[in-house]
Amino acid sequence: MADKEKALRELAAAYGQEQVFQFWDRLDEAGRERLLSELESIDFPLMQRLTEEWVFNDPEVEHFQEIRPVSVIPKVDPTRSDCQDALEAGEAAFRAGEVGLFLVAGGQGTRLGFDGPKGAYPIGPVSQKSLFEFHAEKIHNLQNRYGCTLPWYIMVSDANGPATQAFFEEHAYFGLHPDQIQFLHQRMVPCVDDQGKFMLEAPDRLAKNPNGHGGCIPAMVENGVIKDARARGVKYLSYFQVDNWAVKVADPYFIGYHVQAQAQMASKNHRKHQPREAVGVHCLCDGEYRVIEYSELDLYPQLLETDAEGNVVYYAGNPAIHILSVDFIEETFNRFEQFPWHRAHKKVPYINEAGKLVKPDAPNAYKFETFVFDALRFIQHEPVALEIDPPGEYTPIKSYSGENSVEGAWATMREYWAKWLEKAGCPVPRDSEGRVSIAIEISPQFALSEAEFLEKTRDFIWPASGDIGIDKDGKLI
Ligand code: UD1
Repeated sequence: MADKEKALRELAAAYGQEQVFQFWDRLDEAGRERLLSELESIDFPLMQRLTEEWVFNDPEVEHFQEIRPVSVIPKVDPTRSDCQDALEAGEAAFRAGEVGLFLVAGGQGTRLGFDGPKGAYPIGPVSQKSLFEFHAEKIHNLQNRYGCTLPWYIMVSDANGPATQAFFEEHAYFGLHPDQIQFLHQRMVPCVDDQGKFMLEAPDRLAKNPNGHGGCIPAMVENGVIKDARARGVKYLSYFQVDNWAVKVADPYFIGYHVQAQAQMASKNHRKHQPREAVGVHCLCDGEYRVIEYSELDLYPQLLETDAEGNVVYYAGNPAIHILSVDFIEETFNRFEQFPWHRAHKKVPYINEAGKLVKPDAPNAYKFETFVFDALRFIQHEPVALEIDPPGEYTPIKSYSGENSVEGAWATMREYWAKWLEKAGCPVPRDSEGRVSIAIEISPQFALSEAEFLEKTRDFIWPASGDIGIDKDGKLI
């Protein structure tokens, strides 16, 4: 250990970070080992570059000659011939076992204030089933429909990985085969204070954050996902976020459009109704496909423009749903150095020189992250951008109430499912303003679409009153 310590002390000192050793004398053997192995995992030159660019200087704003709205494939309408062709291509990919699933669940979910991995949040309004279980039920449905196995890769971080894995074990992998599920850890990066110094959250531990969902690119290669996918014959990974309760974990139409275009990376988008909605915006910046993050909209004021009728001109909002081709992930990994980093000024707890934990009440540190959608700039084909209707596809859960919330998602989904129930002949009570006044929940394993629901509920006897929950076997709960 002495050699390792010496080398790392020299390295830290060369980058002006010797303060990370300030509690060394107080650490026991295990603590010292832990600190050294943390330091070994740090890319010091990268951290120096990020600090130079983003802490000591203001980030350079990228200037574009021209920003244009991206051209969008209109929402799926099964009567359109291009949709029928896409469906055929997508379904063939499922049946051939070419589709895998990639879930990003490494974020810290601080805004929801839930003590545990966000995917364990009990979102089911009737059953209290977790977000993870809903995603798993959709997988069961698709596997039954297409007679395939959908490998499910789940990206976690050091902050929530063990708890996530334990949750899956406790729930017996929600009936999926443990072999089809692989957890992978993304890299962590140190937070730096306003002087560019690494901070300690414990005497033997740096304050760190996951390297953003763009970190899935190296994580997939370094954790053997790409190798595993290739061995299984998987060519396309359907990418989604854990907090999107309604997401179609893999959509045959979307995959079909991707396959037909021989695309490297495809995206869904939804129509923004307010210029300042908290979603990124899909656009073409000097011909390159980009998503401009909502926190950066003020840098490009034209993205906030509305037309004479008040419609948002750059309307293609980012629901963070993509398809990535396995080949493209590998190519992008080889140029990960070119990925841009983004910074956020945040409140980060740390221990002070007296060894006391300080919980700041104002932002005191910078976190650096990469974003998966920045890979779109590397594609070498026309954008494949499919518009979706948010209900039934996009109900992100960022907080308990307000915009993008648990309460909002329940409200959206009960209106969405109420239409299925009413078509099936089930009375749904509504208030004087026409809003559904009971809780409704339909297992996606039982039915993923209205057509499937109507088909399966032909002989149902509906309850006369009360909340309506239907479980995966079609039983009322
Ligand atoms: C994100 C998108 C935004 C999009 C919105 C849709 C970014 C930067 N922006 O915003 O364009 O319109 O979702 O809901 O993502 N995650 C990791 N590792 C990390 C960081 C995040 O796995 O290091 C995962 C989280 O678990 C979550 C997802 O990425 O599933 C999104 O993270 P979040 O911080 O919620 O993004 P938003 O700011 O809401």
